[in-house]
Amino acid sequence: MTDSITIALSKGRILEETLPLLAEAGIELVDDIKKSRKLVFPTTDPNVRVLIIRATDVPTYVQYGGADLGVTGKDVLMEHGGEGLYEPLDLNISRCRLMTAGPKDQAPPAGRIKVATKFVNLARRYYSAQGRQADIIKLYGAMELAPILGLADEIVDIVDTGNTLKANGLEARELIEHISSRLVVNRASMKMKHEKINPIIEKMSAAVDRRR
Ligand code: ATP
Ligand code: PRP
Ligand code: MG
Repeated sequence: MTDSITIALSKGRILEETLPLLAEAGIELVDDIKKSRKLVFPTTDPNVRVLIIRATDVPTYVQYGGADLGVTGKDVLMEHGGEGLYEPLDLNISRCRLMTAGPKDQAPPAGRIKVATKFVNLARRYYSAQGRQADIIKLYGAMELAPILGLADEIVDIVDTGNTLKANGLEARELIEHISSRLVVNRASMKMKHEKINPIIEKMSAAVDRRR
């Protein structure tokens, strides 16, 4: 159906900031998502439904057309690579920084270094662009533990207040990228369903501008 739209939203911290922006585009969830075990939700627009999934799965659903639109962090998009996706709008929410970090007051070793991160593709690209040799170790969370336990010399992770680094005896080293959440669109949907998708992008964009 060319007039029905599926939007993949990231659960967790991004969701709370996304829902008000969607509401300003005339799309509101009708169920209480906190009480529901559903993964697909109808909205006040009979032609729009919403999926609530992990942030890291959003690019995959949108890339393969499981969803027409999605909202996720720039960090997640950089790690995914962005194939099959348009990224028409910076939502300016869930802002943070992607950084390298290591033990406080300790310089990284001169030669080859061990780096723990959940962003393995992104980290590989970053160190190689810097001309530095790095062994990348994949973790799924609590990256801050890795240097403490001698697993790695450095981590690549999200930093916001810096409290997590500080509480674990680490400090930020280099800024890789300023991060915020983005609206992404499946490339084929953008062509086939532009009459439905363009107004959503425009209304969300206006909502973002009103917050600046
Ligand atoms: P999961 O908990 O399912 O493993 P996650 O840790 O990626 O996933 P969130 O913590 O909700 O889930 O993070 C989602 C996105 O929010 C991240 O990809 C990043 O863009 C942003 N983000 C993560 N941590 C912070 C933070 N401390 N402050 C602001 N934004 C953040
Ligand atoms: C995120 C991120 C850092 C922390 C940074 O973790 O992975 O650990 O926030 O924020 P800060 O600089 O303000 O301390 P999150 O709270 O999402 O926990 P998670 O490990 O469950 O993803
Ligand atoms: Mg998190």
